[in-house]
Amino acid sequence: MTAKTLGRNLEILEKYRKYADVAELRVDCLDPDERLLIRRFPEQAGIPIILTIRRDTDGGLFVGGEGARISLMARGLAYAEADRRRNFAYLDIEEDLNVSSLEEAARTFGTRIIRSYHNIKGTDADLPMRIRSMRRSGDEIVKVAVMANSTRDVLELLCAGKECEGHEKILISMGHFGVYSRILSEQFGSLFSYSGALSEPDALPAAPGQIEVRELANLYHFRNITKATKIYGVTGYPLKATSSPSFFNTVFELEGSNAVYVPFPADSITDLIDIAKELNVEGISVTVPYKEAIIPFLDFQSDEVGVIGACNTLTLTPQGWLGTNTDARGFSDSLLRFLNKPNFKRQRVTVIGAGGAARSVVFELHRLGAKVLILNRTIHKARRLAAPYKFSWGGLDEQGIEKMEKYRDIIIQTTSAGMEGINPDNLSDDPAAMYNFCGREEVMDLVYKPKMTAFLKRASNAGCNVLNGFDMLIRQARYQYTQFTGKEFPEHFLSRVQFGEF
Ligand code: ATR
Repeated sequence: MTAKTLGRNLEILEKYRKYADVAELRVDCLDPDERLLIRRFPEQAGIPIILTIRRDTDGGLFVGGEGARISLMARGLAYAEADRRRNFAYLDIEEDLNVSSLEEAARTFGTRIIRSYHNIKGTDADLPMRIRSMRRSGDEIVKVAVMANSTRDVLELLCAGKECEGHEKILISMGHFGVYSRILSEQFGSLFSYSGALSEPDALPAAPGQIEVRELANLYHFRNITKATKIYGVTGYPLKATSSPSFFNTVFELEGSNAVYVPFPADSITDLIDIAKELNVEGISVTVPYKEAIIPFLDFQSDEVGVIGACNTLTLTPQGWLGTNTDARGFSDSLLRFLNKPNFKRQRVTVIGAGGAARSVVFELHRLGAKVLILNRTIHKARRLAAPYKFSWGGLDEQGIEKMEKYRDIIIQTTSAGMEGINPDNLSDDPAAMYNFCGREEVMDLVYKPKMTAFLKRASNAGCNVLNGFDMLIRQARYQYTQFTGKEFPEHFLSRVQFGEF
């Protein structure tokens, strides 16, 4: 709870009560006058409260001296009552704070000590030793919250936790890279996960990477996660926004499976695979930029992965990691349904782009009988992609665009041009701006955000039928579900599954 007044914190607590088992009162976030009135807060809150006064050097807002901070802590504990529900349930004391009178008072009156260490800059090398040596008496809970600047940092914390199994502790990898340490607390060996009412305008995120409390409860079903929960996730970089957790977690909830699907942002696919092993992850969706980089880690793969050279689905099997590609079928299912055709025979198709996404598209077009022209900004990549299929190729230049005259039953845009968030001024990006639609083309853009790219809008204005990549996204996710679980996708849930964002 990070609001400026106690009253406001109580209001927020009331609104979010059902999501919280324990609340942390961040006294450092209170207005100075309010800090003097904290003693009655546990009674008013009616839920176990952690008393925390975080220094600015540890990521908090307290800038006064240690004397002032200690006397505030003492004020929080003072005149303990026989009814423990009226006292603070926990007191957060940093590992470098040595005030034995405070600790004795806490222990005597049943306030448990959370012995904390924060590093807001990075992850320390000596974590196992630190975790083991921090606790000063048997009933203390050790809390280590360190900034993860890389996937390796998260791995270090996870392994440190495993080395110290049996200790009561809270381990948090702060920041974007560590987001899943806040969901998989059970697997990280943590007693608590810290969350916040982040959608309240005056509730500051208490630490980088925190997940909004309703999201933790409703999207990830945090309270249902146990050691027996099957873990799946999506990896990529930067993986700032992904709809997949929303899709999979809703399906898991509807069918009542004990499974969770989390984001695994990763700056190193090698370290991510190590994390997946440590966490017993059973399936991973692989997205940009790792669809090719993942291939050396596969123990075996489908034929498609071999030919396409890209893998978007990793499934753990008794024989190791199986790599498959569900983008390909997702694409062809989506487009064929849109066209109401069984295959692409007699269709002359232009594919714009020659990257990873284009490779899946071209593979399917070939498999299903199309004649294809591939146009790419970097012309040699178009030639390289076309060669094994004996397809035509060209640049996204005047000559290339002229060739489209003969390949325009269907036009498929596979580049990231026009995708939201790629760069701030790219929304008007149209990779085939020189091409004039005649209005009879069937046009697909693999991008789904925004729903209408500049390219698709131009096609639609000229009278073409247009399709964006959203339907393909859902279809490939359904195939992924089958890979992960070995079950047919429960189609009757489809209308209830929403693609939100994390
Ligand atoms: P993906 O897996 O999304 O296909 P990729 O393998 O990096 O990603 O490929 C990106 C594709 O988008 C490439 O075809 C790239 O063209 P270049 O090969 O010339 O780089 C294309 N691309 C990206 N931005 C583009 C733009 N603004 N205009 C045209 N093509 C673009």
